[in-house]
Amino acid sequence: MNTTTIINGKRKETSPAENAPEVDVLIDGSIHTARPGERLVDLINREGLKLSQVCYHHQLGPIQTCDTCLVEINGQLVRACATTVSSGMSVTIGSSKAHAARQEAFERILVNHMLYCTVCDNNNGNCTVHNTTKLLAIEHQRMPFKKKPYVVDNTNPFYRYDPDQCILCGRCVEACQNLQVNETLSINWEDPHPRVQWDGGSTIGESSCVSCGHCITVCPCNALMEKSMLGQAGFFTGISQPALEGMIDVVKDVEPETGYGPILRVSEIEAAMRESRIRRTKTVCTYCGVGCSFDVWTKDRHILKVEPTDGPANGVSTCVKGKFGWDYVNAPDRLTKPLIREGDKFREARWDEALDLVARKFSEIKLQHGPDSLAFISSSKCTNEESYLMQKLARAVVGTNNIDNCSRYCQAPATMGLFRTVGYGGDSGSIHDIENADLVLIVGSNTAESHPVLATRVKRAHKLHGQKLIVADLREHEMARRADVFLHPKPGTDLVWLSAITRYLLENGLAHKDFLRQWVSGLEEYKKTLAPFTMEFASKTCGIPLETLKNVAHMIADAKGMCVLWAMGVTQQSQGSDTSTAISNLLLVTGNYMRTGTGAYPLRGHNNVQGASDCGSMPNSLPGYQSVNDPEVRARFEKAWITKLPSTKGFDNHEMVDAIHQGKIKSMYLIGEEMSIVDSNANYVAEAFSKLDFFVVQDIFFSATCRFADVVLPACPSLEKEGTFTSTERRIQRLYQVFEPLPGTRPDWKITQDVANRLGAQWNYQHPSEIMREMASLTPLMAGVTYERLEGYKSLQWPVAADGSDQPLLYTKKFAFPDGKARLYPLSWSGPVEKENTQFDLHLNNGRLLEHFHEGNLTYRVKGIHEKTPDTFVEISPELAQKRGVQSGTWLLLTSRYGQVRVRALVTDRVSGEELYMPMNSTESPVNRLTSSITDPATHTPAYKETSVHMEVLPEIGESPLPRVNHRFGHPTPQHGVEVERKWKRPDYHFPGNGLVQIQQH
Ligand code: SF4
Ligand code: SF4
Ligand code: SF4
Ligand code: FES
Repeated sequence: MNTTTIINGKRKETSPAENAPEVDVLIDGSIHTARPGERLVDLINREGLKLSQVCYHHQLGPIQTCDTCLVEINGQLVRACATTVSSGMSVTIGSSKAHAARQEAFERILVNHMLYCTVCDNNNGNCTVHNTTKLLAIEHQRMPFKKKPYVVDNTNPFYRYDPDQCILCGRCVEACQNLQVNETLSINWEDPHPRVQWDGGSTIGESSCVSCGHCITVCPCNALMEKSMLGQAGFFTGISQPALEGMIDVVKDVEPETGYGPILRVSEIEAAMRESRIRRTKTVCTYCGVGCSFDVWTKDRHILKVEPTDGPANGVSTCVKGKFGWDYVNAPDRLTKPLIREGDKFREARWDEALDLVARKFSEIKLQHGPDSLAFISSSKCTNEESYLMQKLARAVVGTNNIDNCSRYCQAPATMGLFRTVGYGGDSGSIHDIENADLVLIVGSNTAESHPVLATRVKRAHKLHGQKLIVADLREHEMARRADVFLHPKPGTDLVWLSAITRYLLENGLAHKDFLRQWVSGLEEYKKTLAPFTMEFASKTCGIPLETLKNVAHMIADAKGMCVLWAMGVTQQSQGSDTSTAISNLLLVTGNYMRTGTGAYPLRGHNNVQGASDCGSMPNSLPGYQSVNDPEVRARFEKAWITKLPSTKGFDNHEMVDAIHQGKIKSMYLIGEEMSIVDSNANYVAEAFSKLDFFVVQDIFFSATCRFADVVLPACPSLEKEGTFTSTERRIQRLYQVFEPLPGTRPDWKITQDVANRLGAQWNYQHPSEIMREMASLTPLMAGVTYERLEGYKSLQWPVAADGSDQPLLYTKKFAFPDGKARLYPLSWSGPVEKENTQFDLHLNNGRLLEHFHEGNLTYRVKGIHEKTPDTFVEISPELAQKRGVQSGTWLLLTSRYGQVRVRALVTDRVSGEELYMPMNSTESPVNRLTSSITDPATHTPAYKETSVHMEVLPEIGESPLPRVNHRFGHPTPQHGVEVERKWKRPDYHFPGNGLVQIQQH
C-alpha cells in the first residue's frame, strides 16, 4: 500500500520501496543519489546523462524491445530501462562494449526505417530515431533497409500507419493495451515480417480503434502520424509523391559517400526553419470535465496536431475529441457578425448596433418590470473568468440573482449530496487517488465514453494492478463488461441497494467504527432511517439477487480503500440528491474518506461545469459558494463592486422556464448553452423562449437556441481566448490563446464587459488575469489563485490558500464543517415519479457517446467524427427487437407524455429487456423532446432518466445508424502489453554484444 504524506497541502505518494532510504549509485565513476525503487534509466535521465533509449517512455514504463539502453553493470550488459537501482550499484555507460552493443541494437532498428528526415513531417527536433542516430554517431546504414510487404494504412480519418517506417518498438502497443486499455494493437512477432496490427489484422478503419491518439502521441518516429501533419509541417513535405520518392532516393544515394552526419545537419537546419512558422500553444480541452491539457501545434490557422505530454490530469492521454475534435474552430459556418431579428428573419448588424440594442432593451425591461424580470445563463464551456463576469453583470449591474448554469442539469444533486455530508461540493481527491483505490464502485456512469481519459486510469489499475471494479448501471457498457461484478438495478432504485448495503455493514460489524467515532456525527439518527432498507427489500425492489448484494457488501468491507464514481445515471433522477447522499453515507460508514484511494467522485460533465458554479453562476451563491443571504459576504462584494446587491435567492434555470411561462421573466441573456434542446421537456422550454420579450444568445454557431433569439452575438471558442477552466478534480488550469479571434467575433468576457458598460458599469478588464485577481480577492476558496501560479502546465486544486497551497486530496485534517466532522444524512426512498404503464410501456434511458459531445454542435462539425458516427439512434435489446420485428436501421417513432421523436434503431445487447437508450447527441431528434419537467426537489435537476415511451415501428427501414467503420463493430485483442518475450524467442533475435540477457524485475 502506498503511503500518503501531505506537506503544505501537497500530496506525495510513496510506495513501500520508496519509503526505503535513498541509495548511492556509481555511474561512470561518479556518485549519483537515486530515489529508492527508481529505474536506472530515470536516474540517468534525471541526472542529465546521455543514454540512448528508443522504446522507453517514462509514462509507459519499460517495454524492452529496442536494446538501445544497454549499460554495463558488473561486466554484464543490462537494459537500463528494466533495471532498478540498488545500493552500491556500479554502472558503466561509456564503455566501448556498452556503446558497441547500443550501436548494434540501433542499427537493427534502422533496418526498419528510412532516414529521410529533411522531407519528413516528423522532423521537428523531437524525433527519437533522428536524435538517436545522432547520439550514437551512426554514420552508415550497415544493415540494409528492408521494406515490409504491407501497404500504408490510411483507413482511419485522423491518422495513418506506415509499416515501412515502423521500427517495432512497441510503444504504441503498450499505450493501447495498458494505458488507454482499448486493447486494439499488437505485434505479430512470429510473422517473418512483424508489424503493428489492429484487431489482429483488420484495417485501422474497421477495427476497434477509438481514435484516442495515444499510439500516435507516443510513436517515436513517423510510422504513426496525424493526417493533419502530413505534407504540412515541413518546407519540403508538401511535394508530390514522385518528387518525394526522388528526394528520398537522393538521400539514399549520397549516404554511402557522405555518411549520415551531413544529411542530419541539413535536416536539422530545415527543422530549425520550421520553428519560425509552427506555434505550439498550451490549452485545456474544451469537451469533458477530465481536464486534459496539451500543446496545439498550428501553422497559421491550420491545426497540425494536438500533443499531450505531461498534462497534470492526463499525461500523454487524450480521447478522440481532445486529440482530433477541433475542426469546428475553423468551420465555415462560424458566426462572424451579430444578428438582429426582423420578423421571422435575422439580419446582420454591426457590433455597436447590436450591443446598443441589447443595452436599451435590458434597461427598458428592468425599468418597466424590475431587475428580477431579467435572467442570465452562464456557459460551462466558457472560462471561470467569463462565468464570474456573467454573474457580476446579473448581480452588480442589473441587480438580480437570476443567474444559473447547466450544472443544474447534471451535477447539482451530487454537489448537494456532498454539501450535506462532507462539506465541499467537489470530488474528494484526484484521478491519481482513484488509481490508488483497492476497489472502484461506479454507479450510473458510462465512464469509458463520458470521461474517457479518467476511465483509462481505472481500466489500467484493474488490468495491471489488481484493482477491483463493481459497476451498477442499466446498460452493459464497456466498464460494466470489464467489471468484477455488474449490477443491473431496476431504474431509479440505486438509493435502495446502496442504503441496504450500508445497513448490512453496520449490522454485521463491518462498518469502520473508529472512523465513525472520530469523524462522523449523526450515526444514531441515521441508523433509524435505515430501518426499511433490508437486503431482502433491496433485492426485491432493485431486482438484484440477495447473494450478489451480500457479495458486494463484503467486497466493500474487505477493500483497503474504495472510491465511488458516479454521474448522470444517479443525478438525473427525481431522487438524485438523495442517492448522491446515500453514496456519501456509505463512504462514511466504511471509513472511505481522508486517504488516497478513497472518496467521492461525482464526474463533472462539461470542461468547466465545476468552474461555472465555483465562480458564482448560481442563483443562491456568490463565487466560492458564498451565500447571497449572508450579510457579511454581501458587504464584502458590495464594497468591492461599489453597489448594493440583491439578497434573496434568484430563479434557477428550471424555475426560469416556469417564470417565463408565468410572465415573470421577460428577458434572458444566455451564453454558450444549447438550452432549448438540452433542458428537459424541450417542447415546453421552446414555448417559453418564444414568449420572451427579448432574448440574447451568445454562441459560436447559429444553434437551435438561437432560433428563438432577438439578438445573436458571435463569440469565440476556447482556442481563441485566454482564461482558466476547472476540471472534475477541482483542478484550475490556464488556457492560452492559440488563434486570434476570427474576424468579427469577440471573446465572451469582452462581450459581457461591453454589455455591462453600456448598462452603466465602468469595467476596464484588459486581460482575464485581472478578473481572476478580483475574484480571488473576494473568494476564500480561491484566495491564492494567480495566473503566475498557473503558468504553463502548472495547476491548482481548490481550496487554494492565500500562500498558494492547494488541496489535491480533501479532508486530510477534517471535514468542511465547523466541528470538523462529517454528517450522516437520514434518507427515505420514494421511487421514480414517472413510471411505465400500458400506454408508455418502455423505459427510455439516455446519455453520452464517446465521440460526440452533448448535442453535437461541435463534434458533428469534425469531419472524421461525423464519418464514423453520423447520426443518433435508439438502442434496443435483441429480445425486444425480435418481439417487435425491429432490426438495426428500422425507423421508430418514440412517443412520451411530452413529445415525439423519429429515430433509427440500433439493436445491441448493451441494453436488455424493455429498456431503451438514446444518446443525447442530436439537434434534429433530441431526446429531450421526450423527457419531462419532473425534478429532484432539492436541486430542481430534471429527472431525465425517468422517461417512459411508446414505440411505434415505422414501415421504413434505413441503413444501420452506425456505419461499419464505427469502433463498436471491432474486435479488440487484449494481451499483456507488447509481449516482448515473443520477440526474444525469434530465431533471428540475439542480444546485442555477446552478453546474456536477463529479464529483470520492474
Ligand atoms: S485505440 Fe486506436 S488510437 Fe487509441 S491507442 Fe489504440 S490504436 Fe491508437
Ligand atoms: S508504429 Fe508503434 S511500433 Fe511502430 S514505431 Fe511507432 S510506436 Fe513503434
Ligand atoms: S474530452 Fe475529456 S477525456 Fe477527452 S481529451 Fe477532452 S478532457 Fe480529455
Ligand atoms: S529503452 Fe530499454 S530496451 Fe528500449
